[in-house]
Amino acid sequence: MPPRITVLGTGYLGTTHAACLAELGFEVLGLDTSEAQVSALAAGRLPFHEPELGDLLRRGLADGRLRFTTSYRQAAEFGDVHFVCVGTPQQADSAAADLTHLLACIDTLAPLLTRPCLVVGKSTVPVGTSEIVAERLARLAPAGPAVELAWNPEFLREGHAVTDTMRPDRIVVGVRSARAEAILREVYAGPLAAGVPFLATGLPTAELVKVAANAFLATKVSFINAIAEVCEAVGADVVPLAEALAHDTRIGGRFLVPGLGFGGGCLPKDIRAFGATTAELGVGSVSALLHEVDAINLRRRARMVDLALELAGGSLEGRAVGVLGCSFKPHSDDIRDSPALDVAGTLHGLGARVTVYDPAAMDRARQIHPELEYAGSLRDVAAGAEVLLLLTEWPEFVQADPGRLGEVVAQRNIADGRNVLDSDRWRAAGWRYRALGRPSAEADADSIPVSG
Ligand code: UDX
Repeated sequence: MPPRITVLGTGYLGTTHAACLAELGFEVLGLDTSEAQVSALAAGRLPFHEPELGDLLRRGLADGRLRFTTSYRQAAEFGDVHFVCVGTPQQADSAAADLTHLLACIDTLAPLLTRPCLVVGKSTVPVGTSEIVAERLARLAPAGPAVELAWNPEFLREGHAVTDTMRPDRIVVGVRSARAEAILREVYAGPLAAGVPFLATGLPTAELVKVAANAFLATKVSFINAIAEVCEAVGADVVPLAEALAHDTRIGGRFLVPGLGFGGGCLPKDIRAFGATTAELGVGSVSALLHEVDAINLRRRARMVDLALELAGGSLEGRAVGVLGCSFKPHSDDIRDSPALDVAGTLHGLGARVTVYDPAAMDRARQIHPELEYAGSLRDVAAGAEVLLLLTEWPEFVQADPGRLGEVVAQRNIADGRNVLDSDRWRAAGWRYRALGRPSAEADADSIPVSG
């Protein structure tokens, strides 16, 4: 009999994991303490935007392999393998991770574990957390040593969650026994048969792999953005520079795209938590490095505001600014720590009349930033704008026609926060084009007023 699986916490990670394991043929029970979340999922409604996942969810429900509950008792009785996918956000008053939800989940589950099972942590945690969890399981679970702990970090990207889960770059498991490793090999038999590399390590190493990977990715983005700062200081162009670096196969071009920098629910909080952990551990070099990575990243947002000010002629008071994109990245409606929304909020604070358009994230943005205006389309956000800012690189913005947009704006001013537009084409269509890390070409035509 294949192991029966529970997924505890049906947020982004948990929902994806549950639906993908059901798709791979397992019986899966997803648990969440939120009634609303459970009823939405049980009705086949995905509470967030993620390509392909809605279909997988509905297929799992229809086949009867995927179910949802709020009952820990039911989960404990059902599961041979319990995946813990609850959130570990940043603490409200510090950079460290908040483990409240994770430890509450373990403390509720453990006393109900009366038969052999494997508890598998997937949440991103500070190194050393698995030791705390193992101690609680040993103390609270009636089945005693028959309840084992493993750690299996998750590397999925929003917008690619299904592919990243079905065909990850690698599967890492922190285990304490051959039995635990064998169970996880069975759970991941599908991807393993397709040749996905499998690495078994100790628990602390598995915990660290995840934060080290995110720290590296964030460092790579901030590295090219720090070089963008140098380019701005000397009139060099970071776009061809990054391309030249990318051709070096030792460096590679991924996560080397200069622009407004990283945001979202993972990279910012994970590097801050890792910085806090390493400071506590006395490894000051890592905490200092990550502190600077964070600072470089946040400076890009301030620089973006400067570009808007420059295009607006020095003051934003009463000026109409159109913001293209407010999710933290394209193909997602996630606005957690979104660089785009951060910039939009600052511009509003400086007196600009800010209108935002995003293909997926406006409902969420409205709740957090009711003071901003929202437009129903790209054309509407551009209509009457004196400055346009491209802040999230949705394909419809990248492919926008500068000639047609130029007909509806009040002034042809655009700042490209993601370095995705063809500057020559926009300039040729009469736009003043500015971008992070790029010279403001002297050839720039003066902005052409087209209305009023
Ligand atoms: C990230 C990690 O990639 C993933 O492995 C981990 O599990 C969770 O955190 P995600 O938050 O979905 O995933 O976003 P990702 O695609 O990594 O992008 C993060 C941010 O970096 C985005 O805001 C993106 O716009 C920015 N970014 C990315 C850049 O600014 N430049 C780049 O070259 C790449």
